[in-house]
Amino acid sequence: MAQGLRLVLFGPPGAGKGTQSQLLTDRYKLAHVSSGDLFRKNLQQGTPLGIRAKEFMAQGVLVPDEVTIDIILTEVISINTEDGFILDGFPRNTRQALELEGALATRSRGVDHVVHIDVSEPELVRRLGGRYICWGCQAPYTVETDAELQACERCGGELYQREDDRPDAVKRRIVVYREETLPLLTFYRERGILVDVPGDDTIDEVNRRIVAALEP
Ligand code: AP5
Ligand code: MG
Repeated sequence: MAQGLRLVLFGPPGAGKGTQSQLLTDRYKLAHVSSGDLFRKNLQQGTPLGIRAKEFMAQGVLVPDEVTIDIILTEVISINTEDGFILDGFPRNTRQALELEGALATRSRGVDHVVHIDVSEPELVRRLGGRYICWGCQAPYTVETDAELQACERCGGELYQREDDRPDAVKRRIVVYREETLPLLTFYRERGILVDVPGDDTIDEVNRRIVAALEP
């Protein structure tokens, strides 16, 4: 099933949106659109978009809507209508959600499910403190000792720590999530498409819960 599924993965920094996106895109063959990955790729390439986004990302605050919305919606509407997608990290405020709704209104139907991965704050801080990501494909890894710091299993790329995983930026990102992004839970609950998934457990268990919710 699930060909053409349209999903939003929603949750605080470190909830596992990127991790679960990979598992779900492999399982359902969906396109993965991650706003954070897109900004980081532009940053690596030194594009004007990357340079503009960097100052906001490093501080742990949202990149302005004027920069973000067009870029992400252009990606979304370029996906064939019969193919599905996962949005990871977008939308992050009400304006972004309304713009997404408007863009999808011209693409046969809206988002099918918004999967909210709910994780406690101490666990978020623990995960982000040990996270490394691949320079090439952005896959996230947890690294607790230097011996574990090896090449990316997916593409062989080098692993590095994100600048916004410093403790002060992590704190800021969690506050920004609570203040600007969390109100979207009500927005999507009212539309009847919100799925709540407890996310403090293992990667496999969280994945099992998401799949069970999508394939009742
Ligand atoms: P973005 O890159 O989207 O970051 P984020 O939302 O803060 O989320 P993270 O990527 O940090 O966490 P994740 O949920 O993907 O967790 P992961 O799977 O890596 O955004 C970065 C910045 O870009 C923003 O701050 C903002 O400036 C800008 N931006 C992005 N989108 C924007 C938008 N729409 N509007 C405006 N600005 C925007 O997992 C974390 C770690 O935990 C990994 O090490 C992983 O291996 C591990 N892990 C995952 N699941 C588990 C588990 N179940 N148990 C144990 N470990 C786990
Ligand atoms: Mg991520």
